[in-house]
Amino acid sequence: MMLTVSSINVSLAGALILRDVSFELKSGATTVLIGRNGAGKTTLLRAIMGLIPTEKGSIALSGTELLPLPSFARAPLGIGYAPEDRRLIPEFSVEDNIVLPGLAIKLSQSEIRKRLEKVYGLLPELQVMRDRPGNGVSGGQGKMVALGRALMVAEKVLMLDEPFQGLAPALALEYARTLGKLRENMRDLTLLITESSPNLLKAIADVTLLIERGAVTVQDQETRA
Ligand SMILES: Nc1ncnc2c1ncn2[C@@H]1O[C@H](COP(=O)(O)OP(=O)(O)O)[C@@H](O)[C@H]1O
Ligand SMILES: [Mg+2]
Repeated sequence: MMLTVSSINVSLAGALILRDVSFELKSGATTVLIGRNGAGKTTLLRAIMGLIPTEKGSIALSGTELLPLPSFARAPLGIGYAPEDRRLIPEFSVEDNIVLPGLAIKLSQSEIRKRLEKVYGLLPELQVMRDRPGNGVSGGQGKMVALGRALMVAEKVLMLDEPFQGLAPALALEYARTLGKLRENMRDLTLLITESSPNLLKAIADVTLLIERGAVTVQDQETRA
């Protein structure tokens, strides 16, 4: 297993939000977490990243216990995270926005170059607009930049929080195609994607998890061909 979450509880402002949550992310699999607004999707991803405290249980990344580690020590282990509010730094170029998390985890310049080339190979449209300022791209393009930025550190696990939210249907389709391509090109990457609509990600989900009022259950499980 790439990531194992066991019996975690998370409270926010004194209210229990995640209730005894357990699930596993299989290496190289795409896991989709479906739940309505307020179900706890964002809270779960933030807990994995260490942005909010976990009260009990365990979160392990290929055997390494994450809970004792502060947030800044988790991303360098190879977890990329694209938050739902995928804000770019407006005065930074698209490329500098993509590179930023690589600098934050103190990658060498040559490693940053290498990863950037990989991101551009996968998302060539980002290369085309790399010199544009962060505030000079459309909402849909911004989602792609946020994906590239998360890929910068996602050596093992990539977590996308409601990447389709706010995208017009045509753009959502394009984004879904990009995810399919990502899947083909990075077969070892373990993906966790949250969504509020059960249908959008059916085609690429290996495992579907449901979250309802902070409780997670497995919907169905298929072996990827
Ligand atoms: N900072 C916060 N303080 C208190 N409650 C919060 C906070 N953030 C979220 N919540 C509550 O936690 C629950 C789960 O929220 P969230 O994880 O954002 O759900 P989702 O991402 O599935 O829409 C909701 O009931 C929400 O009101
Ligand atoms: Mg959310």
